[in-house]
Amino acid sequence: MAVPVARPTVVVTIDGPAGAGKSTVARRLADLLGFDYLDTGAMYRAVALIGHRDGLLHDAEALARRLESLELVISGGVVLVNGDDVTAQLRDPEVTRFSSVVAAQPSVRAFLVRAQRQAAFGRRIICEGRDQGTVVFPDALCKFFLTADPRERARRRSEDMARQGKAVPDLEALEREISERDMRDANRAESPMVAAADADHVDTTSLLLEDVLALLSGRIQKALSGGLET
Ligand code: DC
Repeated sequence: MAVPVARPTVVVTIDGPAGAGKSTVARRLADLLGFDYLDTGAMYRAVALIGHRDGLLHDAEALARRLESLELVISGGVVLVNGDDVTAQLRDPEVTRFSSVVAAQPSVRAFLVRAQRQAAFGRRIICEGRDQGTVVFPDALCKFFLTADPRERARRRSEDMARQGKAVPDLEALEREISERDMRDANRAESPMVAAADADHVDTTSLLLEDVLALLSGRIQKALSGGLET
């Protein structure tokens, strides 16, 4: 009788600042290559939502205890907290702002890093965030660090918001908000946003989405055919 063999975990990481195109690229690449996709920013946003709702944003210990008693499920673009679908609330400007506050708390990061490793176990998965290639999956098959000019990132964010029928702040305000979040994410003591030493840097400012996809999928296919698995 054949003995079932656990499938090896194969992880591709995409890190970088807000608005660099990570989510779109990660989702499309996952479709193209038949990988799963993990949006780790959505996990920090869900924690910010819970912290805000329960008045625990500035009490890291109490927030960490609260997380231990919750069921956080993220699957196919939907985020459930104890079975409630909170996906629509995760892009609220307040939640967005608070997400970089909770992301600086070591206890929150420890909880989510564990959850991310569990989510990836035994799967072929593209993980997108700020610390995926540096902290969570240092042995990933391929690591990418996506960037773009702040003005271009603000322009893309405003297009996204308009597409979703949301009120769009002016570009200067959006650029300011993005830069403040970058500053907090890049300067925090715990797992700051930084490119892994072995990550490929891709500046998407003047690249078409299709070009970015072709570039990244080419590198992933090459690494896969080289048999390099984590
Ligand atoms: O990618 P995003 O904009 O949805 O992320 C929301 C916030 O969470 C952002 O301020 C950075 C933080 N984050 C993080 O610190 N580490 C991750 N792996 C993902 C997101």
